[in-house]
Amino acid sequence: MPDQRALLFINASQLVTCAGPPRARRGKEMAEIGILKNSAVAVSDGRIAMIGAASDLRNAYADAEIVDCKGGVLTPGLVDSHTHAVFGKARFEEHEQRAAGLDYMEIANRGGGIHASVRDFRARPEDELYAMAADRLRELASYGTTTVEIKSGYGLTTDDELKALAVIGRLAERQPLRTVATWLGAHEIPHEYRTDSSQREKFIDALVDVQLPKVVEQGVARFADVFCEPGVFTVDETRRILEAARRAGLGLKLHADELKPSGGAELAVQLEATSADHLAAVSHQGMAALAKSDTVATLLPGTMLFLGKSKQGPARELIDQGAAVALATDFNPGTSPTVNFPLIMTLGVSQLRMSLAEALIATTVNGAAALGLAGEIGQIAPGFSADLALFSITDIRELPYWYGARLCVGSWKAGAPCHPYESVTKFHARPPEVVPTG
Ligand code: NIG
Ligand code: FE
Repeated sequence: MPDQRALLFINASQLVTCAGPPRARRGKEMAEIGILKNSAVAVSDGRIAMIGAASDLRNAYADAEIVDCKGGVLTPGLVDSHTHAVFGKARFEEHEQRAAGLDYMEIANRGGGIHASVRDFRARPEDELYAMAADRLRELASYGTTTVEIKSGYGLTTDDELKALAVIGRLAERQPLRTVATWLGAHEIPHEYRTDSSQREKFIDALVDVQLPKVVEQGVARFADVFCEPGVFTVDETRRILEAARRAGLGLKLHADELKPSGGAELAVQLEATSADHLAAVSHQGMAALAKSDTVATLLPGTMLFLGKSKQGPARELIDQGAAVALATDFNPGTSPTVNFPLIMTLGVSQLRMSLAEALIATTVNGAAALGLAGEIGQIAPGFSADLALFSITDIRELPYWYGARLCVGSWKAGAPCHPYESVTKFHARPPEVVPTG
C-alpha cells in the first residue's frame, strides 16, 4: 500500500482519547476517557503519530494535509462488536405482532423470526446480499462506526453460511469500514431438522463435522458464536459447538442469557470466551463469574427496547462488580433494526444508568476488546490505528444527549475516509453564555 500523506486534525473543541492500557477497561477504569482541549492529532501511515499543541505539530508535520475539525469533538472511531448486518428483507410485520401481544419466541415457533430471514436469505444471490449489506454499512458508518463485527446465521446450510461469510469477506475488501467476521451457524435449528427429535443432534453433528471445518479451511471467520438460549441451543449443545470451534482456532462469542437465565454467562467464562453478549437475564452467579474473568460483557440495550421489554442488561451491577462492559447495536432485521450507535449510548446512560464515560469506553476500547483488537483500535494514542470519528458537537456529553440525531460529520479508518468528511457547520448547543437574572 502506498504511504498515505500525513494528516493533521486541528481545531477540535475536545479531543477525547480514551487512551490507556491496550486491553479491556473494567469497573472504575471505565470512568476515564481523557478529554484534551487545544490539542491536535498527527496521523502518519495510517497510525496515530503524535498528540500535542497544534503549533508544535504543524512544525513537525509541515507537509501534512490539514483536517479542520472546526470546533467539533474528535473521538476514536466507534467499534460495534455485535451485528447481523448481512440479511435480505426487513421484518417490520413482527414489530406490530409483538405490540399485539405475541412474544419473540412465539413468533419464531410459528415460522417467523430468524426462520423468516433464513427463507429469504437462501433465495437471494450473493451479489444482491452484498449490495444490500454495503448500503447498510454506509449507514452504520454515517453515525461514527468505523469497525463492525458481522455474523453469518441466516443461511443455516453449509453453502448458505459460506455465502454469508463470502459476503462479509467482500465487504471487508471493498467497503471502507474495518470488519470482523463471525460464524453463527448455530443461530437456530432450521425447519428441515425439526421433523423429529433425533434430527436436532444430526444438525449439530453437521455443524461440527462438516460446516465448521469448511469455514476454517476457507479462513473466512475469526470468531464462532452460538445462540445459547432456552428454546434455541442448550448450554451442553453450545459447549460442544464452541469447544470444537476453539480447537479449530476460532475465538469464541456467545449469545447468552438474553431472555431467560440458562447459565450462558457462566459457560462463556468457563470457555474463556472473548465476549458474552445480551445478558439481560444473566443470573447473579453469571455476573459474579463475568466480573472475575477476562470475558467482555456486551450489552445490547437497543434489542430490549425494540422487543418492548422493560428489563435491561445489568450494566451498573456488572461495572460495580468489576466487569468489562461493552455496548453494541445488535443490528439485525428482527430485534434491533438500528444503525445508530450513538443512540445505543443514549440507552446506556438513560436505561442502563451508565455514565457518559462508561458508555464511551463501552463503544470504543471495550468494543475493541470484545473483538480481540484492544491493542490496535479504540483509542487515540501513539501507535494505534488512526480510526477516528468527528462529531458536530462541542462537548462529548452531547453525543448521547441529542438522542437519535446523526451528529457524525466524518470518520476515518487507518487515516482513510470511512464516512466522507462534511464540514462541521451546525452545532446543537451553542447559545452564547448568559448570566441568569432574577
Ligand atoms: O441477537 N438473539 C438472536 N439473534 C438476534 C436476532 C436475530 C433475529 O431475530 O433475526 C439477536 O437478537
Ligand atoms: Fe445478536
